[in-house]
Amino acid sequence: MACKPINVLITGANRGLGLEMVKQILTTLRPVSKVFACCRNPDGEKAQELQELAAKNDIIKIIRMDAADPKSIKEAAAQVGSHLGQHGLNLIINNAAVAHLSTFSATTPEEMQDCYRTNAVGPTCIIQEFLPYLRTAAKDSGMPGMSIRKAAVVNISTLVSSIGIAKDTYIMFPCLPYRASKAALNMIVVCAAVELQKDEILCTLLHPGWVRTDMGGPDGEIDAQESVQSMLKVMSSMTEKHNGELLDYKGKNLPW
Ligand SMILES: NC(=O)c1ccc[n+]([C@@H]2O[C@H](COP(=O)([O-])OP(=O)(O)OC[C@H]3O[C@@H](n4cnc5c(N)ncnc54)[C@H](OP(=O)(O)O)[C@@H]3O)[C@@H](O)[C@H]2O)c1
Repeated sequence: MACKPINVLITGANRGLGLEMVKQILTTLRPVSKVFACCRNPDGEKAQELQELAAKNDIIKIIRMDAADPKSIKEAAAQVGSHLGQHGLNLIINNAAVAHLSTFSATTPEEMQDCYRTNAVGPTCIIQEFLPYLRTAAKDSGMPGMSIRKAAVVNISTLVSSIGIAKDTYIMFPCLPYRASKAALNMIVVCAAVELQKDEILCTLLHPGWVRTDMGGPDGEIDAQESVQSMLKVMSSMTEKHNGELLDYKGKNLPW
């Protein structure tokens, strides 16, 4: 049976892993109806490559969204809603994040708040605001179970969110505010997964690997192309068994 075209939304889509996702989704998740590429400053220099890509592909709609600002998320949801037809929104990838690298002793309330606002509160507001569109997609799909072609939120987390292995990883990669905010994200997504199960909306977490982006730095183990290729493969194979799970880009479960 032929697949129905899907609508996908990605946050932090102007550079790094988010931009690479926009590029690869066009071919890998075909058929795609629309890709809503969200970024906080669509007219800025850092969104130039995304603008060029969108100019060549009318499937891509660039949407202004500051993931750290609930008002901006609300406005983005209204704008996306005006483009969506009766089929709803099938897949949200909560990718936008900030990382402050300070140690426990050196970190400030401002760094902690900045990381929480963007990495934990932002994804919460995004899931809440776009929930009606996800529900529409789940109902419209006519498919049993859960999948990213039906209705799903994939949240980009990190290996260093894991409390279980923090004693081994902390010294190498301190970044206390980032770790704490991503551990909070993990909890938020598990709670959302339980609550939205009745709507058949899949909620999961993915670690992209250590990737050579602005955030990952030049010493990362893989490039954005390999990370995204692998994450999209994992996402495509997700079912209800993966609801509320934290996986890495190769599909392996990570310890909480
Ligand atoms: N790279 C790695 O090794 C690695 C490892 C583990 C997990 N991750 C996770 O992977 C995801 C992508 O990371 P990356 O490596 O691609 O990072 P990146 O190159 O630093 O890109 C971060 C993206 O997030 C956006 N962003 C930050 N704050 C935002 C806000 N308030 N509103 C909207 N967009 C915002 C940035 O937009 P601006 O251009 O406007 O700043 C940019 O598009 C993140 O969730 C990160 O935690 C990365």
